[in-house]
Amino acid sequence: MIIKVLGSAAGGGFPQWNCNCRNCASVRSGKPGFRARTQSSLAVSRDGRDWVLLNASPDLRQQINDTPELGSAIDGQHRNSPIKAAVLTNGDVDHIIGLINLREMQPFAVYGSDRVLATLDKNSVFNVLNREMVPRHELALDSPTMLAGPDGPLGLEIEAFAVPGKVALYLEDASQGDNFGSKEGDTIGLAVRDPAAGTEFFYIPGCAEVDPPLARRIENASLLFFDGTLFTDDEMLQAGLMPKTGKRMGHISVSGDDGSIGAMAPLGIGRKIYVHINNSNPILDENSDARRATETAGWEVGYDGMEVRL
Ligand code: MLT
Ligand code: MN
Ligand code: ZN
Repeated sequence: MIIKVLGSAAGGGFPQWNCNCRNCASVRSGKPGFRARTQSSLAVSRDGRDWVLLNASPDLRQQINDTPELGSAIDGQHRNSPIKAAVLTNGDVDHIIGLINLREMQPFAVYGSDRVLATLDKNSVFNVLNREMVPRHELALDSPTMLAGPDGPLGLEIEAFAVPGKVALYLEDASQGDNFGSKEGDTIGLAVRDPAAGTEFFYIPGCAEVDPPLARRIENASLLFFDGTLFTDDEMLQAGLMPKTGKRMGHISVSGDDGSIGAMAPLGIGRKIYVHINNSNPILDENSDARRATETAGWEVGYDGMEVRL
């Protein structure tokens, strides 16, 4: 499999349009050690020809233009695209809005949990994707689905599974108590497999907690892309950016007693890469103590254009 990180930032990107935090100001002014990042998405291909998007970010147009493999083939038809499917891990703005960029009567397939598809169904703007050309397929949880595009099977298998998390911000229902009406399938992780090659990786860009079922599932994985939203739970409060903790947003932190570095350390995972990194996160500063601690703990910090082959 060829895996490309199209966008390694969380919602808002890096820099975020209205943010003058230390990180955003630094990257905007071109300070060494800071690198701009677009919003959360990966692309995966078995053969380098047909590609599957894992989430469709609001920056998708830029990401396609920055990634030659995803552009129209110069020797192809007037209208052609190597993007054959998009798999959605939740209904967050940073993960679904790119679908709108994929209008223009181009066939491809959309996959998501019943919860995510229900959100698309309720928002009529997504009808800009003609369902006869862009069918929506429900990903059953905990059972493998072979992905297929408009021209047939893509040779990739996805197993979706619910992870601890929260319903998308704009779907929160305050009357539903602490979990805002979140249900299973609002946030999913993906095992992505090439059955012919016997390779597999995990993609979990949003996750509130590494609970025992999740730990068991990813134990001894060879490759994991994981939620790197915040370094510390209260970093946005401390920086005066937003009165919300990571826990309130449904994101586990990188550091700390209940952080992902600690939770994953005993799991024997081969390669661990943070994605969905919020602009407040100090690991975005290549010269920070937080970055050093993260890399010393065996994690890589994902960046746009990063490519991994399995
Ligand atoms: C998140 O990851 O928590 C969301 O993308 C936040 C948002 O919708 O702004
Ligand atoms: Mn997000
Ligand atoms: Zn910022």
